[in-house]
Amino acid sequence: MDSFELKTQSGIVPIRFAYMNATWVATELARVLGVRRPRLLIVTDENVALHQLENLKSAFKAEGFGLEECILPPGEQQKTIARAKFLLDILAQKKFARDDIVLAFGGGVITDLAGFVASVYQRGIEWIAVPTTLLGMVDAAIGGKTGVNHELGKNLIGSFHQPKMVLAELSVLSTLSPREIRSGAAEIVKGALLAGGEFWREIEVAGVDAMEWSPRWFERFVARGAAVKIEIVSRDERESGERMLLNLGHTFGHALEQVTGYGTLAHGEAVFYGMRAAIRLSEKCGMMPQPKARALDKWIASLELPAAKCTADDLLTAIQSDKKTASGKLRWILLREPGKPVISHDVPDQVVRECAEWLEEIVQSGAEAVPIPRRRRVVILNGPNLNLLGTREPSVYGSMTYEELSKQCFEWADDLNFDLLIRQSNHEGEYAELIQWARRWADGLILNPGAFTHTSVAVRDALAAANLPAVEVHLSDPSSREEFRHSSLISDLCRRTIKGHGPDGYREALTELAFSLPETA
Ligand code: DQA
Repeated sequence: MDSFELKTQSGIVPIRFAYMNATWVATELARVLGVRRPRLLIVTDENVALHQLENLKSAFKAEGFGLEECILPPGEQQKTIARAKFLLDILAQKKFARDDIVLAFGGGVITDLAGFVASVYQRGIEWIAVPTTLLGMVDAAIGGKTGVNHELGKNLIGSFHQPKMVLAELSVLSTLSPREIRSGAAEIVKGALLAGGEFWREIEVAGVDAMEWSPRWFERFVARGAAVKIEIVSRDERESGERMLLNLGHTFGHALEQVTGYGTLAHGEAVFYGMRAAIRLSEKCGMMPQPKARALDKWIASLELPAAKCTADDLLTAIQSDKKTASGKLRWILLREPGKPVISHDVPDQVVRECAEWLEEIVQSGAEAVPIPRRRRVVILNGPNLNLLGTREPSVYGSMTYEELSKQCFEWADDLNFDLLIRQSNHEGEYAELIQWARRWADGLILNPGAFTHTSVAVRDALAAANLPAVEVHLSDPSSREEFRHSSLISDLCRRTIKGHGPDGYREALTELAFSLPETA
């Protein structure tokens, strides 16, 4: 485990990195809190929830925490004041108190948003960052900058609010796509260029190719990348001086993200292009000798970044608007050499223009963007009282617990190459909402609505609206039980009804979907 302490005006923030599991996250927090067991609002997104939320929840439950959760759609579009208000509503409705905690479980969007909400709810409650992306671990979750976007600019609304703790569990990185890895790697390379010395030399020798696929690369470099930021932020928390260095590659990087349309280039891809621009500016301003600059540029260029459409004029306009928000003074972060960054106010306009033109050319002719492949997605929705499996009428439903059944389903889904989410609710309205939510995310549904099967028109209507391939499952065979269980309000909307086969019914339902769902692109 790598352990750091970020010393700030508001106190010490422990920051830990380990290649472990969800249990480690929960026990580390429990250790820091001592006997205190506050309620946690876990804020996450659908992609993270898919692979990791159930494990995290069980780990925190085992440590005795009270849990609430909020799963948001993924993406930068979520960083709005409206979303922040939505989260504040949850905190208020669930009566979160001043000593309860918001736990941000996700990438930069989630930590920025959840941290911001924690900073304003009841004038500031504690939050914990559990970053799940490389970018989050080395950058977004560290340093206490929180915020949401405004139509007129990124992160225009926000605050400095340090998390109580940052817990980065590295094994989760194995679920990231190569593009997401590259995106985070940009911040590590930036850290190495700022730090220079041994760190840069090791990165340089490992080469850019290695970062695309190697978990070893993470183990060696993630915590060190973060350490550069931790050191700088502990000397300048509010960005009055040295912290600006962390913007290396970000002036052109932000401009590129803006003019290509957010999301076209991943943040880190734009920063890699931005660092190439910063190196070129350093050379043109006579700070970095040409051979050194060209060698560095070649090193980054070997990454084959995706192409995007942009023009030099648009880039310059975007930079001008950045300038306005920085009260008229644009500060360029340049390099004399790795380890020797410089903040410069006076890069001649002509040099900036020439660099923008060069960037237009290299960005337009970049490699083809790699589409992010995905597996087919299935959601299992279990209705009331199924959470009691194991203890609930074992003679009817068997002795397997709900947790065991869920685990089993995840294994079956993995074998069939599905991404799976499982949800359970005892409330009819919530169950209908889960179907509505699944409609946006899933390719197929497996429903065991429990007693709602026989009674709920609302559940039927939600399923009809979802218009997704669905399979109905019952552990018991309701048609051989009491009369009132004989009818199902959803059977005619499902491809198949599997009943009386116990837990195995879920496997059969997954197999049915494996055969019938079309492949994803
Ligand atoms: C059930 C059957 C329903 O009749 C009952 O209300 C349940 C479980 C089953 O899985 O067998 O809760 O759906």
